Amino acid sequence: MKIAVYPGSFDPITYGHLDVVSRAAAVFDRVAFAVLVNPHKSVPIFETDLRLTVIREAVAEFCPPDVAARIEVESFDGLTVDFCRRRKATFVVRGLRAVSDFESELQMAHTNRKLAPEVDTVFFMTALEHSYLSSSLVKEIAAFGGDVTQMVPPAVSRRLSGRGRSL
Ligand code: PNS
Repeated sequence: MKIAVYPGSFDPITYGHLDVVSRAAAVFDRVAFAVLVNPHKSVPIFETDLRLTVIREAVAEFCPPDVAARIEVESFDGLTVDFCRRRKATFVVRGLRAVSDFESELQMAHTNRKLAPEVDTVFFMTALEHSYLSSSLVKEIAAFGGDVTQMVPPAVSRRLSGRGRSL
């Protein structure tokens, strides 16, 4: 069985992430979202448990049932490759939006391979219509009360609406 891990902060999940995971689920038997508990970036808009709930709802809303059945959602703390080993996953899935993503993704893929030679990274090119999206921009727009409904699934937008400057 081919198992892949899709690691990230997913704070919040966007339509770009859903596109990548759906396409990965067409290639692998199982794909496990691995939600990093403590992203060192900034204060998360959604705490870990809420991020897991939101992702599960978004997958149920967005993915056809046969695809959703192959997608799991978990959190992790520590190294991605250690999570892969625990899950018996031999692939890491990442999305590439533009050339600007490439350098850091290349570094991560090589580093992970050095740490765990049995784990390979597979990239999916984010669909063109989602290639401008990023969780941090969604967060900023939502903080100023902007409309993010075209960028994130309803599971996210209904929780953001009205929170405005409190984000
Ligand atoms: O959504 P992001 O922030 O681009 O995801 C980055 C993530 C979570 C994939 C990366 O930071 C990660 O793998 N963190 C876990 C710690 C780790 O394994 N570090 C070494 C990777 S080179």
